Amino acid sequence: DKGNHRHFMLKEIYEQPEVVARTTAHYLDMANGKVRLPADLPFDWAKLPRISIAACGTAYLAGLTAKYWFERFARIQVDIDIASEFRYRETPMVPGGLMIVVSQSGETADTLASLRYAKENGQHVLAVVNVPTSTIARESHIVMPTLGGPEIGVASTKAFTCQLAVLASLAIAAGKGRGFIDEADEDRLVRAMMEAPRYINEALKLEGHIAQIAKSLSKAPNVLYLGRGTSYPIALEGALKLKELSYIHAEGYAAGELKHGPIALVDEAMPVVVIAPYDRIYEKTVSNMQEVAARGGQIILVTDEKGAEHAGIDSIATIVLPDLPSTITPLVYAVPVQLIAYHTAVEMGTDVDQPRNLAKSVTVE
Ligand code: F6R
Repeated sequence: DKGNHRHFMLKEIYEQPEVVARTTAHYLDMANGKVRLPADLPFDWAKLPRISIAACGTAYLAGLTAKYWFERFARIQVDIDIASEFRYRETPMVPGGLMIVVSQSGETADTLASLRYAKENGQHVLAVVNVPTSTIARESHIVMPTLGGPEIGVASTKAFTCQLAVLASLAIAAGKGRGFIDEADEDRLVRAMMEAPRYINEALKLEGHIAQIAKSLSKAPNVLYLGRGTSYPIALEGALKLKELSYIHAEGYAAGELKHGPIALVDEAMPVVVIAPYDRIYEKTVSNMQEVAARGGQIILVTDEKGAEHAGIDSIATIVLPDLPSTITPLVYAVPVQLIAYHTAVEMGTDVDQPRNLAKSVTVE
């Protein structure tokens, strides 16, 4: 049932404040500002040699975001891999490490094969999964569920933000377990996480403005997405969503990579979506944005109030989110990139809930 919405995808985008709130409440003790994981862990964070993450598509991008969080909060090395690459690379694994697999369906063949390889190689396997009865959930040692509810739209939306909520909670737990996060930090981070649903709700209010921007995007043959830090995976997610829904060719790049090749593509016909919250690397992204502007690129800036104030550049459009705690920016900035892809696809008349050539669950490799 799509409710009042035209597509399942839009309904699921709008469910995010609720499902992210439900998911965070499952992992965080909100009253006391503490992380409270729903399952006991068979390992000690402080003794963990390494974390590996494997997943596909959007779930992989949730994993890539988590790498930044685990490294920052818990000072632990993280290997992140596309599951179809990981499974055949025969990578050496230090026994006693943690393998995290991320999957909405819990049935993705390459992710399942990665899980089995990690088990055979002495890893603790933790699944962040939306379908609790799935094969990946059954075969993992530890299951950390996303409480997104059934996702019908082929393009993943609410499962992604719920995956981010679980992975951020795990990274805070890891930071605490390894002694890099004290009680005051934990309290601050947990309270930031609790704010995510409210900010997601604020982001949804920008839908009308984003629908207008999508009109011009729908005429572009190519679109570039740029971001740094945790905004880099969001740039990749924006490009993935746009290409799968609207069939417009889109690429996501780490903003700093621009001058190493993709800037050659930039001309007056090239829209460039820049994901740049006002964080500690904002200035770096802005200088990349100026390089794009100098070559006539059409900038669509996704930022916050402070970022909009300091951008000092002519963008064709600016999507302004509220200022928010940096930890939760990926959960909130996911929403405008989903809406950009959704409205561009609607504008083009493609089948949003069932894009051509795609399947919801990829059980063959
Ligand atoms: C993109 C999308 C896919 C899936 C990928 C993994 O919008 O939905 O990229 O994220 O096929 O699927 P799961 O999460 O079921 O393993």
